[in-house]
Amino acid sequence: MTAVTVDGLGAVELAARCGVPRAVLLRDVESTLDVAHALAAEGAPSGTLIVAERQSAGRGRQGREWKSDRGSGVWFTLVERVDDEALAVLALRLGLALAPALDPFSARPVRLKWPNDLWVGERKLAGVLVEARWRDGQPEWAAIGVGINLQPPDAEPGATGLRTGVTRAEVLVAVVPAIRAVVAKTGLLTSDELAEWASRDLAAAREISEPVAGRVLGIDSGGALLVESEGGVARWRSGSIVFSEPMRE
Ligand code: BTN
Repeated sequence: MTAVTVDGLGAVELAARCGVPRAVLLRDVESTLDVAHALAAEGAPSGTLIVAERQSAGRGRQGREWKSDRGSGVWFTLVERVDDEALAVLALRLGLALAPALDPFSARPVRLKWPNDLWVGERKLAGVLVEARWRDGQPEWAAIGVGINLQPPDAEPGATGLRTGVTRAEVLVAVVPAIRAVVAKTGLLTSDELAEWASRDLAAAREISEPVAGRVLGIDSGGALLVESEGGVARWRSGSIVFSEPMRE
C-alpha cells in the first residue's frame, strides 16, 4: 500500500513545513483525537500532529458528530502540554489564532462564535475540540482537535468551506504554527486578545436565546460569555450560542 501523503507531502516534509517534531498521516481513522491520546500516553512530544484523510467517527462539542469525509476538509489533532490556567482559555485562544490564519483562504473574513467556532457569513467553517487528560490535579496533555471544511458537508445547510482550490497542505502549513504560537502563551486572555476577539465577534450586541437569553456584551479574560439581560450581566462558561434572529449577512 502506498504511503499516505497530504497533497504530495510525506510525513517528514509536512512536519518540517509545519514546524512540528512529528506528523502521523492516516488514510482512515475513527477520530484523530483518539490517536493523539494514545500517542500522548506513550510519551509523544508536544507538537505531534495527527492528520487523517477521513474520520469515520469524528466528534464535535457536546457529543455532536463531526462529518469528516475524504477530501472535503482538514481534520487534525495536535498533542500539546498546557498549564492549568491557560487551558481554561485555550479554546478561545485557538479561535483567535485560526481566524487570521484562515482569512487568506476564505472569500470573506473569518469570524468567531463563542466559545470556539469559526464562521464565515452565516455559516460554520471550522470547529475546535480540546480534550485534556489529567494527572494529580494537573493537565498532563491536551489533544487539540481541529476540523476545517474545504467544502461544506452534504446535507449541512449551516456549513461553509474555503475558496475553491485551497489545498489541505497549505491550510496546515498556515494554521499549525499559528496554533503552536498561542499554545505557548500562559495566563488568561489579555486586553489585546479581548480586543481582537471583539473585532471578530459574530455575536457582539446580538440577542441570543441560549445559553441564556439576553444581549451579548462580549467575553471576559477567563473566556466567559457576558450576556446582558433584565436581571443584570450573566457570565456563562459552557454551552453554545443560539441567536434569537437569523443572522444578517
Ligand atoms: C465542534 O465544532 O464541535 C468541534 C469540531 C472538531 C472536529 C475535529 S476534526 C479533528 C478532530 N477529531 C475529531 O474527532 N474531532 C476533531
